Amino acid sequence: MVKPSAPDSKSKHAPDSHAALLLAWYDRARRVLPWRALPHEVADPYRVWLSEVMLQQTTVQAVKPYFETFLRLFPTVESLAAAPTEQVMSAWAGLGYYSRARNLHACAKQVATLYQGQFPQDYNSLKALPGIGDYTASAIMAIAFDQRAVVVDGNVERVIARLFRIEEPLPLSKPAIKHHAGQLTPHQRSGDYAQAMMDLGATLCTPRSPSCFLCPVRAHCAATKQGDEATFPRKLPKKTRQTRYGAAFLCHRADGAVLLRTRPDKGLLGGMSEIPTTEWHADASDPSQDVEQAPLALNWKQVLPPVQHVFTHFPLVLRVYVARAPLDTQAPEGMRFTPRHALSNEALPNVMVKALTLGLDSL
Ligand code: ADE
Repeated sequence: MVKPSAPDSKSKHAPDSHAALLLAWYDRARRVLPWRALPHEVADPYRVWLSEVMLQQTTVQAVKPYFETFLRLFPTVESLAAAPTEQVMSAWAGLGYYSRARNLHACAKQVATLYQGQFPQDYNSLKALPGIGDYTASAIMAIAFDQRAVVVDGNVERVIARLFRIEEPLPLSKPAIKHHAGQLTPHQRSGDYAQAMMDLGATLCTPRSPSCFLCPVRAHCAATKQGDEATFPRKLPKKTRQTRYGAAFLCHRADGAVLLRTRPDKGLLGGMSEIPTTEWHADASDPSQDVEQAPLALNWKQVLPPVQHVFTHFPLVLRVYVARAPLDTQAPEGMRFTPRHALSNEALPNVMVKALTLGLDSL
């Protein structure tokens, strides 16, 4: 663990360089975040790693409560490594991109066994761990160990695309953005610099209406000079994704228990809990066939409107059916009845929370 340099430490770059201006702004305006060391504190690699994995594809606001829950349940990387998979998946439920949770757990186990619970302090060893790619390895090197690394997330991509008015659209421009980012990255205060760029993107250099008048590096920004900063980064047109359709079955037994199953480990929502569903197809499959595919022969009633959910790769319309089952009903093979009070311990993804809420409210 390395103590971050004091905010007033002398830097080698000119006082009006990009890095010097940005770091001076960071010393005034840095955000206080649960995983972020305060200026006089030492960064904790476990917190840095956990937060960086959680923050991929997810906002700071959404991550905060999950980060706090994880630290309470698993205060160290060893305790996370030793936890049952179901507990980790359940604590992650709602954050999305569930392969991240499986990799997180696998990574904790490797750090505990291969490195005695200490994250390795070199880029290549970090990158060899499950779920750690170039971005996360660089972020850990910079933020946890204060080693120079070029840290480029979505916010930083936007900042760089504007500073250099990069006409090439994302994602094609990623190598050019990384190159420019590397040229700006200083050799001192690596962790502060990486987080300063992230904070700039998150608070001032925002996607739609950036606050250029408050920006510490506006004098260096090619897009602001042209007055077209909000049009960067250029992007390739988004592919429109075909909607998929399916049916889900909420079976409510007389004792209040609900029929659930666990999805296969591989694939979308792998290892998560669900109420039984049909396959999801791009053709708006014939609803009159739904009930034939229900897990038990019961008096199924559809609850309207269907659940709508947007996954990264497609939108889903899920028709929800409910039925009451007698007390002596046994779960079909591979399924289980979970008591109502134990639902909060299940690894239920958001789409299933929507389906369960709709179904249970209708009973
Ligand atoms: N987004 C991703 N990583 C972050 C960090 N360390 N601080 C703030 N925002 C972030």
